[in-house]
Amino acid sequence: MPDTKGPRILVVDDNRQLRRLFALYLEGEGYVIVEADDGRTALEHCARECCDLMLLDLRMPGLDGHEVLARLRVNCPDLPVIVISGTGDVADVIAALRAGATDYLLKPVEDLAILLHAVKRALERADLLQENRRHREHLEQEVRERTAELTAANRELEELRRHLEQENEYLREEVGAVAPVSGMIGGSSVMLRLLHEIELVAPTGANVLISGESGTGKELVARAIHERSPRRERPLIKVNCASIPRELFESEFFGHIRGSFTGAVRDRVGRFQLADRGTLFLDEVGEIPLELQGKLLRVLQEGEFERVGEDHTRRVEVRIIAATNRNLLHEVEQGRFRRDLYFRLNVYPVAVPPLRERLEDVPTLAGHFLSLACRRLGVEPPPLRRKHVAQLQAYAWPGNVRELQNTMERAAITSRRGEVSFDLGAPPVATAAALHEAAAAGDVLTEQQLRDFERENTLRALTAAGWRITGEGGAAELMDLAPSTLSSRIKALGLKREEA
Ligand SMILES: Nc1ncnc2c1ncn2[C@@H]1O[C@H](COP(=O)(O)OP(=O)(O)OP(=O)(O)O)[C@@H](O)[C@H]1O
Ligand SMILES: [Mg+2]
Repeated sequence: MPDTKGPRILVVDDNRQLRRLFALYLEGEGYVIVEADDGRTALEHCARECCDLMLLDLRMPGLDGHEVLARLRVNCPDLPVIVISGTGDVADVIAALRAGATDYLLKPVEDLAILLHAVKRALERADLLQENRRHREHLEQEVRERTAELTAANRELEELRRHLEQENEYLREEVGAVAPVSGMIGGSSVMLRLLHEIELVAPTGANVLISGESGTGKELVARAIHERSPRRERPLIKVNCASIPRELFESEFFGHIRGSFTGAVRDRVGRFQLADRGTLFLDEVGEIPLELQGKLLRVLQEGEFERVGEDHTRRVEVRIIAATNRNLLHEVEQGRFRRDLYFRLNVYPVAVPPLRERLEDVPTLAGHFLSLACRRLGVEPPPLRRKHVAQLQAYAWPGNVRELQNTMERAAITSRRGEVSFDLGAPPVATAAALHEAAAAGDVLTEQQLRDFERENTLRALTAAGWRITGEGGAAELMDLAPSTLSSRIKALGLKREEA
């Protein structure tokens, strides 16, 4: 039974005696020996099963040692070969070494210990080489994998960088337009109900349709919903549908590629893509042209869209918060807004009440806006006295919270010696009409209603008299009052000519 444990050595020599000598000696040293008496047999053997080392005679009939070496280098480049030269011709040996032989011995090999030494050295070297090669292959493989990973990561980074750049550009555009998000102020029951609704719907991811008059705080509500949602780490992107020219809607929403229309000088990401995995706030949603509503519906339903000028379909996942100060259902009935789109947007309706329906909030809001404005001006906020609050609460605020904010900013600028005053618009005609109605129905009028009525009546007289107080046809005569009484009343009511 051959010892299969030791390294296998193929001894190739046409001299049988020498072969046997080497074989017996090396077997004694624990090697497994296979013999071949010519070059062809040696190569055939190598093709069949591998060995660890070849002892190769150079001069042989048929295929000689040089031929064998040349073919081996093609098929078994790693097999260590010790050539045994009988001629002692140096050129012969050098040629063999150049052709890839590991070592050489000269015949006659009288001291077999030299053979053993050469064999051991060649095997060791082969082991080292193999180990080296394994390491190198491993390293190369690792480098390849890392390179692939890096390339993919780089590509992703590049994509991210572009995305961020575009997001930045968008944010820069927005910075001027959007006030920093301040908390929502208001403790009235309507406001508390609204806050409760915000808390309820925010985490659900459902589309929200916010309705309310201009300046009621719809945008603030949209921001509050986004900030309380799991998407808060992702962007809230705003599109003001009222300010986009009709022909640019599609590009604004979905983006375009360079050259897709005149003026498209470079690729542009649309708002939908910017808002991916975040929230898209469609302000004034009622302004979206009918012909684009179908495409909007598609992205809401399927999450798919194409950039203008491109076939490639992109996917997004976006939560929509829309706002409108129109009656959108009425728009649907008039055929100006698609019903299916309306239902997609109106999953959860939130109505922001006008300020006149929550006058309890006026003092807090007024105080808040006044101190904000004073801080900006670097002045001490003047106190808001009861009479001021009463005056502010007597007003109907057709421009809602925004009007109150503007009023307080003006008041901060015009306040003198710590005393604040307001220039409020005239109460709407509706107030007077409502008063007439209430009076006619026999209802009791409040002090406030009477004051409003007085104010309205005085304004009417002034307007009719072209703001002339004294003389024939003057306001004092019209009201059957002494001109001085009227003058002081005008002052007390804070009436000014531009209010007429
Ligand atoms: N409850 C509130 N607390 C504090 N500030 C508020 C509140 N509501 C509104 N505001 C402020 O009033 C201003 C108008 O609000 P916002 O822009 O949200 O109104 P809007 O309903 O979106 O108005 P429009 O219909 O004109 O777009 C903003 O400066 C906002 O910060
Ligand atoms: Mg708004």
